[in-house]
Amino acid sequence: MEKHYAVIGDPIEHSYSPGMHNAGYNYLGIDAVYHRFHVHPAHLAEAVNGLCALGFAGWNVTLPHKESIIAYLDILTPQARRAGAVNTVKIHEGKKIGHNTDGDGFVCSIEGDLQSLAGKKAVLLGAGGASKGIALALAERGMHIHILNRTPEKAMDLARFVQRQGGKGSTGSFEPGDWLKDVDLLVQTTSLGLHGEPFPFTLAGISEQALVVDIIVNARETAFVQEARKQGCRTLDGVGMLLYQGALAWEFWLGGQAPLEAMRKGLKDQLLQKMFYKG
Ligand SMILES: NC(=O)c1ccc[n+]([C@@H]2O[C@H](COP(=O)([O-])OP(=O)(O)OC[C@H]3O[C@@H](n4cnc5c(N)ncnc54)[C@H](OP(=O)(O)O)[C@@H]3O)[C@@H](O)[C@H]2O)c1
Repeated sequence: MEKHYAVIGDPIEHSYSPGMHNAGYNYLGIDAVYHRFHVHPAHLAEAVNGLCALGFAGWNVTLPHKESIIAYLDILTPQARRAGAVNTVKIHEGKKIGHNTDGDGFVCSIEGDLQSLAGKKAVLLGAGGASKGIALALAERGMHIHILNRTPEKAMDLARFVQRQGGKGSTGSFEPGDWLKDVDLLVQTTSLGLHGEPFPFTLAGISEQALVVDIIVNARETAFVQEARKQGCRTLDGVGMLLYQGALAWEFWLGGQAPLEAMRKGLKDQLLQKMFYKG
């Protein structure tokens, strides 16, 4: 019988998840369809009930529902419990199980480049939901997490959260500083650059060994990635994180190994289409 999956969020029209998952189903000949639904926060409870009533096997959750959906679930995996947020729901024996693949997806996306993480220093720009998942996953692997955010109180809250989970977390000002000299991994997690905005500061003086990642997924390279490349750093964009969080969600739902290359192609095709047809 055909299975149905989805992503729910507000807004949702930008989501690349349907193209990525459907490319994977097609490649393996799996009888499933992945949909995209706009769900206003006021209608989250009805949406969850509706998805269950319609027999959906699972769904992804994106902004702004990652925390609020927890109230409507039966079970949380350890990853979801620790993060306090859910990006993947599976229906198993009538129960709604909440899981989180964001942090582990990010780690998978950098592992090819930065093998050993323990004892190294990560600087995160931004302290929103994405930063929280990444901070937690990196701290669990023994990295020191230094957080810089436009609103310093949020950086402090996140550093305290990392510390409460047993990790090493600290904060600084959202500007260049001594942190540039000894950073092993720099991750841009703010929404700056999503619409082509310039990045507000230079990375001059950044450590030569730094891997620089901008988690924004966009058809065109962000100004932040351009600046990091100008400084001679190795860089990654947000496609890897999106791909691996999706692959881990797939494996949580369907078991086995997700068809990574088919899913990557599904994602890249959408980005190319966006670049050529929508500018
Ligand atoms: N690749 C992936 O798989 C993936 C996954 C999740 C998210 N993302 C991307 O990550 C970005 C953040 O998502 P999120 O869920 O963390 O959002 P969020 O919870 O709304 O957090 C937004 C962050 O951006 C900062 N920010 C916004 N505008 C800014 C500006 N003009 N100057 C400086 N800082 C600014 C905010 O700082 P304040 O605290 O000061 O407001 C906050 O730290 C989005 O672009 C999203 O598309 C990518």
